[in-house]
Amino acid sequence: MNERIKSVAFLGPEASFSSIAATRFFGDSVFRHPQRSIHDVFLSVKNGNSDFGVVPIENSTEGSVGVTLDELSITSLSIVEEKQMRISLNLLSKDGDISQIKKVYSHPQSIGQCREWMKANLPEAEIITVVSTTVAAEHAAAEPYSAAVASNEAAGVYELKVVAENIEDMKNNYTRFFVLGQLPAPPSGNDKTSIVCSVRDEPAALFNLLKPFADYGINMKKIESRPSKHKLWEYSFFIDFIGHRDNENVRAALEKMQEKAAFLKILGSYPLDRKKNITIAVDGPAGSGKSTACKKTALLKSFKYIDSGALYRSLTWYGLEKAGTVSGLEAMLKDIEIKQIFTDEGDCITFVNGRDVSLLIRDEAIVKNIGAVSDNPNIRDFVNTMLRKWAKSEPVIMDGRDIGTVVFPEADLKIYLDASADVRALRRIKEYRDMGKDVDENGIKKQITQRDEDDRSRKYGALAMAEDAVYCDTSSMTQDEVVVYITEMIEKTML
Ligand code: DC
Repeated sequence: MNERIKSVAFLGPEASFSSIAATRFFGDSVFRHPQRSIHDVFLSVKNGNSDFGVVPIENSTEGSVGVTLDELSITSLSIVEEKQMRISLNLLSKDGDISQIKKVYSHPQSIGQCREWMKANLPEAEIITVVSTTVAAEHAAAEPYSAAVASNEAAGVYELKVVAENIEDMKNNYTRFFVLGQLPAPPSGNDKTSIVCSVRDEPAALFNLLKPFADYGINMKKIESRPSKHKLWEYSFFIDFIGHRDNENVRAALEKMQEKAAFLKILGSYPLDRKKNITIAVDGPAGSGKSTACKKTALLKSFKYIDSGALYRSLTWYGLEKAGTVSGLEAMLKDIEIKQIFTDEGDCITFVNGRDVSLLIRDEAIVKNIGAVSDNPNIRDFVNTMLRKWAKSEPVIMDGRDIGTVVFPEADLKIYLDASADVRALRRIKEYRDMGKDVDENGIKKQITQRDEDDRSRKYGALAMAEDAVYCDTSSMTQDEVVVYITEMIEKTML
């Protein structure tokens, strides 16, 4: 027998971010019930008109959605799932001509998320806030000289052209959505719980309320206060923590908290949503141990490792192989197909037009000629386009000197691995000795310092730490410690 097709309510109309989220949660084979307000989404599920409801709860740039918090604190429904969705904002207009735009419509949250872009690109435009990004799109479709900040999907629905894509100021712009249901979700083994509570008006009230989290080893992820709406200057606290309400320690902690709280309500326990296709950019000076650390991490986390340096090396090899020089390489790019695979043994193998060049690209001649290749802006564009394509459909960790700054300014995690020039020189010396090579210690130290200077002053793709990168000095760390550090950062990023 066919399972009954489910229905889902969301803040509509179609093409709103909530409608896109509803499709992500449920696919497109459910009945869709677009609603006019967040309140109506709650109502539709409560009345049994919809099996589930999808509501936005918070945005990584603009903070919580107050209406959702207020509805949650009084509803009998349970949060049964959460999902984070990357929000990309687009400027849409009828004719796609930015010079014709005098008014820009959008929802206040979306306006807040592209404030800097607006200031830089449309400083004169009048900004008008409306109840949703789709209402904004309706205005843009109906009124001359107007535009909307909305989803890509809205362009299709309202027959608008995309004036500019991805105009959000923070490329890491995520919105968290909840799915609401009539019944609580059972434990999945990896859950989060949300509660709302208020404290008594007495000393150390909040401390006493939260103490059971410490006593029962519970990891609190978020606490947010909001006016209680009952009494002036009285607050409700919305708290998220790791664990399911049926877990023994959570049950015990909540019992103790009930005793201390003036009011406490469980909003739901639901499986942790982990970001899946994440991109991790690891940059840093030559010899900071990037590639070894990245490969080991990739193996541990089942990510793909991409060696960006190998692409510059491969192109250099191709030029030398075909023409004995790299000077005409730009014209040959159309004939070059590069593939890279990362094996289960942790080896990164690069193929040029089907030939395995992994060993050939490590030749001294490559290093001597690579500068002319990696300093060419058109070749860099060619490489960057390839890297971005490779990273699209799976989780990747990638290293280089401009990955976090140029190739993936919107990477989910950026790490800048550093080490003092002396330590890096010692590592290189050891590497050469292990390979049985003769070593000129002073020469290597000089080379390292010179390379740092060159890399930092490159015209294109210069080595620099991205503003939002985390800095890790590996000078006194072992390789395994670096791997542990990166793995922990990834774990945090995926939550
Ligand atoms: O990491 P590697 O030694 O294999 O890099 C080879 C060359 O490519 C080196 O000269 C630096 C350059 N490179 C670059 O310009 N940009 C990157 N993202 C990676 C490497």
